Amino acid sequence: MAYREDNERCSIQPSDNGPLLIRGPVKLIDPEGNELEVKSKNIALCRCGASADKPFCDGSHKRIGFQSVVRAQVPALTPGGTVGDAG
Ligand code: FES
Repeated sequence: MAYREDNERCSIQPSDNGPLLIRGPVKLIDPEGNELEVKSKNIALCRCGASADKPFCDGSHKRIGFQSVVRAQVPALTPGGTVGDAG
């Protein structure tokens, strides 16, 4: 069932100092085009490089002290309250 039919969308969220958290139905493909088995609708993908189970997170980011905090850039509001270039 396509996500548009059930109104479900996949989300990808970088966790603070940890993996990318993927929520929702996804197809995970390796560089050669082979589909990796995904056992859950919620998965964590390693972004520290230390996992022994790549591309999945195995918790090794804690052991190596991986640090990365990602925040979206929020657009500035104009004096009228609309999104735009405030500069
Ligand atoms: S992010 Fe968890 S092992 Fe790399």
